[in-house]
Amino acid sequence: MEYTKGSEIRKSDYPIHDLILDRWSPRAMSGDSISQDELMRLFEAARWAPSSSNIQPWRFVYAHKDGEYWDKFFGLLSEFNQTWCNNAGVLAVLLAKKTDDNGKENRNHLSDAGAAWENLALQGSSMGLVVHGMAGYNVEKAREELKIPEDYDIVHMIAIGKPADKEVLHERMQKSENPGASTRKLVGEFVFEGEFKE
Ligand SMILES: Cc1cc2nc3c(=O)[nH]c(=O)nc-3n(C[C@H](O)[C@H](O)[C@H](O)COP(=O)(O)O)c2cc1C
Repeated sequence: MEYTKGSEIRKSDYPIHDLILDRWSPRAMSGDSISQDELMRLFEAARWAPSSSNIQPWRFVYAHKDGEYWDKFFGLLSEFNQTWCNNAGVLAVLLAKKTDDNGKENRNHLSDAGAAWENLALQGSSMGLVVHGMAGYNVEKAREELKIPEDYDIVHMIAIGKPADKEVLHERMQKSENPGASTRKLVGEFVFEGEFKE
């Protein structure tokens, strides 16, 4: 099944690259696996994100659906996210190291990890894959079960899979299963020349 490109429905107010409009967050996935080669292309895209002093603080921990770690990752998700992630091929957790190699605090770690995540999402979307960020999971359980040291912030989880028709979803999720469902603020609402405005 073909991935619906966001640019077929979304319209930007100013001209931008289709790659950006094309990415969206579908939930309908086929249950097919993601090959290790496909997955590494996504992490390769993350690798080339910019970062403060080139510290590259992002880390990813992942599990394949058909692999030994799947149940552990799936068990971290909220009930809602479990209802659609059962058809994902890979679940991942994005981490951000809070300090640099000398142990000095890196106050840009979260923004750098965010850049890596967006690179990954754009690459996945360009390959016709579903890539969906998730904040609905148990952070403490993730830290404990995935053995994540305190020096790393747990940023969010990510579902990756092959696209499917929206009919695989529960009815209440089908309505929002299109790139037009999530709208955006106007540029003028979050960009200010000269000084901040409420
Ligand atoms: C960090 C992050 C956490 C998110 N958490 C969830 C989640 O737990 N469950 C879910 O269904 N969608 C989740 N989303 C998807 C957002 O709702 C979605 O990105 C937003 O509505 C914008 O839509 P779009 O990605 O299709 O452009 C998350 C997205 C991000 C980036």
